[in-house]
Amino acid sequence: MLEPVKPAPRLLMGPGPINADPRVLRAISAPLLGQFDPEFRRYMREVSELYRGVFQTKNRWTLLIDGTARAGIEAALVSLIEPGDRVLVPVFGRFGHLIAEIARRAGGEVSTLEAEWGSVFPDEVLEREVKKRRPKIVAVCHGDTSTTMAQPLARLGEVCRTEDALLYVDATATLGGMDLPVDAWRLDVVSAGLQKCLAGPPGSAPLTLNERAENRIVRRRHVEAGLKRADEKEGKGPIIRSNYFDLAMIMDYWSEQALNHHTEATSMLYAAHECGRILVEEGLESAFARHAVASKALRAGLAALGLELFGDRAHRMPNVSAVHIPAGVDGEKVRRALLEDSGIEIGTSFGPLHGKIWRIGTMGYNAREDAVLATLAGMEAILGKGKRGAAVDAANAVYRGG
Ligand SMILES: Cc1ncc(COP(=O)(O)O)c(C=O)c1O
Repeated sequence: MLEPVKPAPRLLMGPGPINADPRVLRAISAPLLGQFDPEFRRYMREVSELYRGVFQTKNRWTLLIDGTARAGIEAALVSLIEPGDRVLVPVFGRFGHLIAEIARRAGGEVSTLEAEWGSVFPDEVLEREVKKRRPKIVAVCHGDTSTTMAQPLARLGEVCRTEDALLYVDATATLGGMDLPVDAWRLDVVSAGLQKCLAGPPGSAPLTLNERAENRIVRRRHVEAGLKRADEKEGKGPIIRSNYFDLAMIMDYWSEQALNHHTEATSMLYAAHECGRILVEEGLESAFARHAVASKALRAGLAALGLELFGDRAHRMPNVSAVHIPAGVDGEKVRRALLEDSGIEIGTSFGPLHGKIWRIGTMGYNAREDAVLATLAGMEAILGKGKRGAAVDAANAVYRGG
């Protein structure tokens, strides 16, 4: 007989997943309810309300897609993009490439704009390209964990409105960790995942969409033959090419009508509910400040270790930090030693940055002083550079206002 899983204690300081808040783990273990039980429908409504707070939106359609963060990206893109639609994807890291790939699979005529990894796009470039290429949809990542850069988005929504394009944003790595006022920035569809700044496990993707997006999606509404009533109205647009990620169907399922679709992932909904409660209870501003001070302290400690931060200083995400692996150091060996000696995980890197940087997250439940200090102490013990204790002292000074 195999033993039950008994994971080693780990401090997950990579770019996600991070350690889930124990409150969220407790919520997951609550007993199941049927998906049409009035009590469960109440929890669904509460989830919508909590995430309206998190997304800073009044959008009626604020719901969960069952699956990891990329399930949210797929649901948004397959439901927005009609075959042959022009889609513009600004790419500044791995997750921009992922968006472009998913948009192509959805049948879009995708054109990309590429920025060097470690930088982002100036507003003027995005505005110029939207005007020139006239896309139906612009799809962009907010914080790309592969480079740790955050694309400024405050103006892009307005540009897309003027040019009659819909704007989709992947906020997987930033929601709850940095400001993203969905309504004020006029973002049409935004999706995320629980396993980063929201302090939950992977497996549920909060998503919000406004009326502009709803109008486009509803014209493709289709009802499963076995559920259809004689008076059911369907849209005239082309059918959405995925059943599981058909946002028109998912909206019907989350509506008062509660039209059957998938079986809601009950335990993950409990998790998302608790993640939302934790964040709303703390307050967005203080959560953003907690993430910012944790990275500031971590970065001060990394600098004291003689490590150089990667990427454009002005656009670094406040919740994941990237540092150059020093010449002559085997990055994977250090990561393994940190895991084996201290039980701490930090992140490797992809594509053009493979083997060149480490990525260290200070996200969600782990954006805490003790987690930052333990990580620096562990790294210092392995790298053994500079004055002993200097990294922890530098991070401590940030927390003490030094
Ligand atoms: C910015 C961003 N988008 C999307 C994803 C994909 O998320 P998932 O692995 O949960 O599908 C990630 C995961 O790291 C991410 O960082």
